[in-house]
Amino acid sequence: MDCYHIRGGVPLRGEYRIKGAKNSALPILAAAVARSGKHEIHDCPRIGDVLVMEEILKSLGAVTSFEGNCFSIDTENIEKTLVPGEIMSKMRSSVFLMGSLLARCGEATIHRPGGCRIGKRPIDIHIEGLKQMGFTVETHDEEIRCSGKARGGRVRLTYPSVGATENLMMAALSGEEETVIENCAREPEIVDLQGFMRTCGFDVAGAGTGSIVVRGGDRRRTDSMYFIVEDRIEAATYMAAVMAAKGQAVFHNIRCELMKEVLKVYERMGAVVRSFGNAIEIIAPERIKSPGFVVTEPFPGFPTDCQPQLVTLCTGAGGLTTIREEVFDSRFTHKKELIKMGANIEICGKNAIIKGKTPLRGAEVYAADLRGGAALVLAGLMAEGETVVKDIYHIDRGYENLDEGLKQLGGIIERRTSD
Ligand code: UD1
Repeated sequence: MDCYHIRGGVPLRGEYRIKGAKNSALPILAAAVARSGKHEIHDCPRIGDVLVMEEILKSLGAVTSFEGNCFSIDTENIEKTLVPGEIMSKMRSSVFLMGSLLARCGEATIHRPGGCRIGKRPIDIHIEGLKQMGFTVETHDEEIRCSGKARGGRVRLTYPSVGATENLMMAALSGEEETVIENCAREPEIVDLQGFMRTCGFDVAGAGTGSIVVRGGDRRRTDSMYFIVEDRIEAATYMAAVMAAKGQAVFHNIRCELMKEVLKVYERMGAVVRSFGNAIEIIAPERIKSPGFVVTEPFPGFPTDCQPQLVTLCTGAGGLTTIREEVFDSRFTHKKELIKMGANIEICGKNAIIKGKTPLRGAEVYAADLRGGAALVLAGLMAEGETVVKDIYHIDRGYENLDEGLKQLGGIIERRTSD
């Protein structure tokens, strides 16, 4: 089991290029199944979840190779329509195969992905949407079997779920008619999925608005080459690291418009943010100010995936901060570990109330989920002395070599294998 050893209080300085987005890569790799052909996906992050997705794609009959950040996949011989239960349990995003296998083969069998550390995470909106589109959905214990083809017409989501929007965009390709998906999520990664689908020759429009139109029926074989959008959550995490450790850094391959709300909050906390073209510079404040009250919301609101990192930063801010988690039902797993390090945080329902400023001390802490784990690394950069973050496989699921990136900026962090 690997862990990070971090020495706090060392300012970060320098430049770093943001990687491709985890939350784009996963649906895009699934979507490659919908179109028979050779697909070359560039800027694909080398993270744990992508490696699990590769395992699933191979089990379905795809031929893959992953060199550097280029993921190549040949989907000509997709033979299976069953995603094995043991792989489903490793990664929720395998649920995307439901939509892409329906598009390609007219049937798909998956296992219910179950809850996870950040909440119950049901897939009722996905299933309800598929039924509205005309698919037959049968459930046997934990197995979900879907078949049929989209009959066209309108489908309305009860909540703008990111995953359900992406799954239904793919499933809608299965029929010959036009499907309009309403009350969609508007995240940039959905726009990116649309970009990939169009590159494959599919007829999709409207991503980034609340209503997406998909026309199915095109079964050609097409090769494609695509570059994944930059990871706004990785960017927000690195910028938070600069604020936590102090210092100043320039991040390349990241546009302001993808992270307006996050930058606004960081500026309220005293950071100086400058953007030029495809780069953003951040200068940490001498003293972090409380942002007051922050609520997580679907895009373009403050992302839930940046909430744990913000909680860490706010332990260093004078006064009271309230952060309300509106997207997931239990996403404060990092609270207990931050308290071990000296933080004063109380959870009242959906709100984390952080009383600052409390200096953090190095400690041995455990990552319980991906972003919560990143929040502990930031705490380590802020703290006095040495922090050991354990169970970093959670962090590896979504960050490509977080330690290497922080080292590049001058951070003192080392990956070690413990017994
Ligand atoms: C995606 C992101 C994840 C991010 C989240 C919210 C990927 C691979 N993951 O996850 O990093 O935190 O968006 O921005 O892109 N819900 C239901 N029923 C459903 C579907 C969702 O109740 O059928 C609920 C969830 O439990 C959660 C909320 O809706 O409380 C948001 O979920 P959703 O937008 O679907 O997130 P994911 O697609 O799972």
